[in-house]
Amino acid sequence: EEINLQKNNIILIGFMGTGKSSVSKKLSEVLKMKSIDTDQYIERKENTTIDKIFSVNGEEYFRKCEKDVLLELSNEKNIIISGGGGIVIKEENIKLMKEMGKVILLTASSNIIYKRVKHSKDRPILNDNMNEEYISTLMKKREERYLQAADIIINTDNKSIEKICEEII
Ligand code: S3P
Repeated sequence: EEINLQKNNIILIGFMGTGKSSVSKKLSEVLKMKSIDTDQYIERKENTTIDKIFSVNGEEYFRKCEKDVLLELSNEKNIIISGGGGIVIKEENIKLMKEMGKVILLTASSNIIYKRVKHSKDRPILNDNMNEEYISTLMKKREERYLQAADIIINTDNKSIEKICEEII
């Protein structure tokens, strides 16, 4: 499979709690590349929170926002993009991301993810289902999509942000 390096972007994908945002921030410092988080981008653009978008406009609207962000960023070069955990749900997003650069999938075991996200209040997908079993089920459901999108896979279990960045570089 051909990997598109022309635009030199790095795109981080993966389930909630795999460290996309922290890794993106650190990578951005180390590589001196601008980083953009799709969730943050959407919150600024819509002038509200992800949680509110889900409760007021619904998930489908949020998924449309995610796709719009990718379209808006599609001509960028040399940036790091960290996507929301569900960015792979829309198949057209996978195609877009692959065209934009190198897609790096961060993975983690469900028990580790659970420990990382259990106190978070801003993940509407987990609001009513904050337990390891649900996390594991949803991860399996999305797994094929994550793998379909990934150029490189990095497991983050018991690794520091620095170590993960080293592996990516
Ligand atoms: C979601 C993950 C979240 C955010 C939204 C939906 C998902 O991003 O986009 O709450 O469907 O997995 P993080 O992966 O940064 O938590």
